[in-house]
Amino acid sequence: MADKIIAPARALQGAAEVPGDKSISHRYAILAALAEGRSEIQHFSTADDCHRTLGCLRHLGAAVEADGDRVRITGAGLDGLRRSRGALDAGNSGTTMRLLAGVLSGQPFDSTLTGDDSLRRRPMRRVIEPLTRMGARIRARDAEFAPLEIRGGGLHSIDYTLPVPSAQVKSAILLAGLYAEGATSLIEPFRTRDHTELALAEFGARIERMDRSIRIHGRAAKPPRLEPRQLVVPGDISSAVFFLAAAALLPDSNLLVLNVGLNPTRTAVLDVLATMGAPISLVSVHGVNGELAGDIAVRHAQLGGAVISGQLVAQVIDELPMLAALGPFTEQGVEIRDAQELRLKESDRVAALAENLRRMGAQVEERPDGLKVAGRSAGKLHGAEIDPRGDHRMAMAFAIAALAAEGESVIHDANCAGVSYPDFFTTLEGLLER
Ligand code: S3P
Repeated sequence: MADKIIAPARALQGAAEVPGDKSISHRYAILAALAEGRSEIQHFSTADDCHRTLGCLRHLGAAVEADGDRVRITGAGLDGLRRSRGALDAGNSGTTMRLLAGVLSGQPFDSTLTGDDSLRRRPMRRVIEPLTRMGARIRARDAEFAPLEIRGGGLHSIDYTLPVPSAQVKSAILLAGLYAEGATSLIEPFRTRDHTELALAEFGARIERMDRSIRIHGRAAKPPRLEPRQLVVPGDISSAVFFLAAAALLPDSNLLVLNVGLNPTRTAVLDVLATMGAPISLVSVHGVNGELAGDIAVRHAQLGGAVISGQLVAQVIDELPMLAALGPFTEQGVEIRDAQELRLKESDRVAALAENLRRMGAQVEERPDGLKVAGRSAGKLHGAEIDPRGDHRMAMAFAIAALAAEGESVIHDANCAGVSYPDFFTTLEGLLER
């Protein structure tokens, strides 16, 4: 439970790399375990969350070798998994739990998925409901919360309109769809990250997409077969954003973040930062395994404000803590609306943001669906004791805000950053000039 002391800094300078994208790493690992043969994944995320997925896959019989950020997985095909002897522990990782719920719904054996205190409080009905419609039998505490006891097998296809824009729910259904008789069709209310669709196509599944509609072909005359692949994961834009924000904030900054994933369903945060006035440019953009990647250059600027609402919320959902924490340093402040989902993440991020921003002296109006953070004219932030509530993105967002505040801050339980970015504080320290 290490505390981290953060002193103010003058600049972020140089070049940085961030760990492989967390969302993509989960998907490549799962699909590699369902493919026939050996896949190799380079620049696999070092996040605790992704290692939870690897652990679960091992318990399900996949051969997984992890050597730093290089992972080799030998799958035995869609029907090659076997019953785990114990419960599968997803730790803090919602993606592990929801995506594996989809896979396990297709298996002819029983499984139990569990997680830490935070994950056992997060909503699971959103996956239980469609997977049950497909024929899985899932028991959960109060029909909502993990542990999930899943009795899979015998799935049939469904046509389903997602009630919430959630890439995890979409992915759970698509993965179950591989095991269903016939073709499963989905419609999303708004487009969310499409890594599952791209990865399924990369591994050779039959998947069609048009705008917000997706169709996956499951078992028919010819059952689907996934091919093993050589894969390289681009850097995680949701981790890069902490450094981009810090460079935009601190006066003498000039930073390059190398090899960051630039999938268009993830880059809305760059548009928000650019609209706020951050000078951002993309360098050497290229394709890798159906994804896009490139370097992002950013310098300091005086930031205007932002209002984030509607469809944009789903596109920057993981970046909202950092964007909100920029609020007090901007001209007009930052307002977030339509973001009820933000209360259902690793912590209630609306409440955690409001509480910790106020501790630093910010003026914040907390609302059921978001918050309004007053800009610079409400006063300068001062150092404070930050309680990230065990939430990695909260710890990192407030470390950045603390760099631009007056006096030192203490981030309690700062190790929770390891859920997505174990080396965050070391990399940050290496880029700072004081
Ligand atoms: C993720 C989807 C998002 C996001 C999460 C990762 C994914 O969650 O917040 O960090 O990898 O599919 P929701 O699907 O709940 O919006």
